[in-house]
Amino acid sequence: MKSGILWLYVVAVSVALSLPACAQTAGSAVDAEGHQWWQHAVFYELYPRSFADSNNDGVGDLRGIASKLDYLQSLGVDAIWISPCFPSPQVDFGYDVSDYENIDPMYGTLADFDDLAREAKKHNIRIILDFVVNHTSDQHKWFLDSKSSRASAHRDWYIWRDGKGPNQPPNNWVSIFGGSTWKFDPTTNQFYYHIFYPEQPDLNWRNPAVKDAMFDVTRWWYHRGVSGFRLDAVDTLFEDPNLTDNPITGPGKNAFGDPLEESKYNQKLPEVHDILRGLRQVADENNAVLIGETWTADIAELNKYYGKGNNELQLPMDFLFTTVNKLSPAEFRKQIAAVDSASGWPTFVISNHDIIRSYDRYGDGKHNDQIAKLMAALYLTLRGTPIMYYGEEIGMKTTPPVRQEDVKDPIGRRGWPKEKGRDGERTPMQWNDDANAGFSQAKPWLPVPPTYKTHNVAAESKDPNSILEFYRNLLKLRHTNPALLDGGYAALNENDPNVLSYLRTYKNQTVLVALNMSGSVQKVDFQLSHNGFSSAKSLLSTAKSSVSGDTVTLEPYGVFIGQLSK
Ligand code: NOJ
Repeated sequence: MKSGILWLYVVAVSVALSLPACAQTAGSAVDAEGHQWWQHAVFYELYPRSFADSNNDGVGDLRGIASKLDYLQSLGVDAIWISPCFPSPQVDFGYDVSDYENIDPMYGTLADFDDLAREAKKHNIRIILDFVVNHTSDQHKWFLDSKSSRASAHRDWYIWRDGKGPNQPPNNWVSIFGGSTWKFDPTTNQFYYHIFYPEQPDLNWRNPAVKDAMFDVTRWWYHRGVSGFRLDAVDTLFEDPNLTDNPITGPGKNAFGDPLEESKYNQKLPEVHDILRGLRQVADENNAVLIGETWTADIAELNKYYGKGNNELQLPMDFLFTTVNKLSPAEFRKQIAAVDSASGWPTFVISNHDIIRSYDRYGDGKHNDQIAKLMAALYLTLRGTPIMYYGEEIGMKTTPPVRQEDVKDPIGRRGWPKEKGRDGERTPMQWNDDANAGFSQAKPWLPVPPTYKTHNVAAESKDPNSILEFYRNLLKLRHTNPALLDGGYAALNENDPNVLSYLRTYKNQTVLVALNMSGSVQKVDFQLSHNGFSSAKSLLSTAKSSVSGDTVTLEPYGVFIGQLSK
């Protein structure tokens, strides 16, 4: 049995931390203490190709999403972030936009979007769109004009340069998706810059006309009822105008066979913050939220994205949290403490459309379902806003292609076999155990994982011990418990190698969270009575976890969430 720590100072710290971090920001607060709607909301990312297919063509669509609003509401979702659904040649499955102010016919029409927005509002669900700010498709009318002649009206909307010589790009920068970042265009005898695929030319954000047009896109959607944007790849907006070569960091090559280099001159340039402040002003005028795809090396970098006085992104995602790749209380404590000390409100993500699902990242192959609940209990009880990923709530498994010819994601085709691409985390949502998991009557664009027979919404809704029911109960608790919503975070038992535990305290309410990250039973004495509490009452626990007196007993990978009373 392990001993607890002295809590008195811990409680004092958590009361101090409980002041809303962003109370000073614009927009209408949801309570007298100045909390903003996005601080209390649970966000849910859905990949529109894979969520629900209403017209049975094998690809999901907006009407499909609308048909699942009851489900999302009953789950406890407050806002859906829809990955890009704008017209696109789909080279990068929508992250190559050819018209920012329309809907791709594959997903429906603007009228379908308006219907979805109206229905979502009735379900108290807000809509967040994915704004691909760094680049357009090479089929966007701006780029088509830009490449048509050196004198075209949109020439300077993109980044065009002469090569160093015949067949020699302007510098050594390598694309995130492999190869040089420069593509030669014979029409005008110059290279254009693309940090992702050649079909995704980078916009020139140094041109004020680009800025105006892109800011107007956000206004256009705000007026259509959108409550914010997830900003794609913000790190990549600016490049060194002198095109200085990037430093080479080592002798090897990456999965695409390119030299290893530090993206010193084409990522994370300080100018990005001017743009984020501007986008934030427009967002504030619309009581909207900006979520950032912010890959940061440390919390100091993350802080820059909040901006001085919280005037940039309200919710820069903390991907450092996803770098913890094992069930290690010590590692999680470190990352939680770091983001808890950040200058803005934390944002937690454990899965998304670019990374292996948490079910597989943490699962040991035997206890994956218990571990899925454990991970849910972790990121849904921390101080901050969680962003779920579709299917996480039913324990969907990452299912990468096994043959190169089945790969859909171009980076998988290009990087095979070292880089298999991202198809595995984008498979169709598993609604029931009918053919194609109830996603579509046609063959889905990606195969449904075999686990759909057991891990699906219909089956799990009937099982009180399912991952889905655990999520539902947890989200219900999170929405109604003031300590979980607004309370400060304070770590407990910081040397415990097996159990991650902490308090969330708001005013006179304290919740204890204890998470067993080991495969054996753990008993922890929290010394409740020595620390001013008379008892703990379970609010939500896994089947064989319980409290008796001062001691919490946790089954392997068990969860205990309890209210403490004085
Ligand atoms: C980040 C997105 O999440 C990813 O899916 C996409 O391929 C790149 N940005 C390029 O837009």
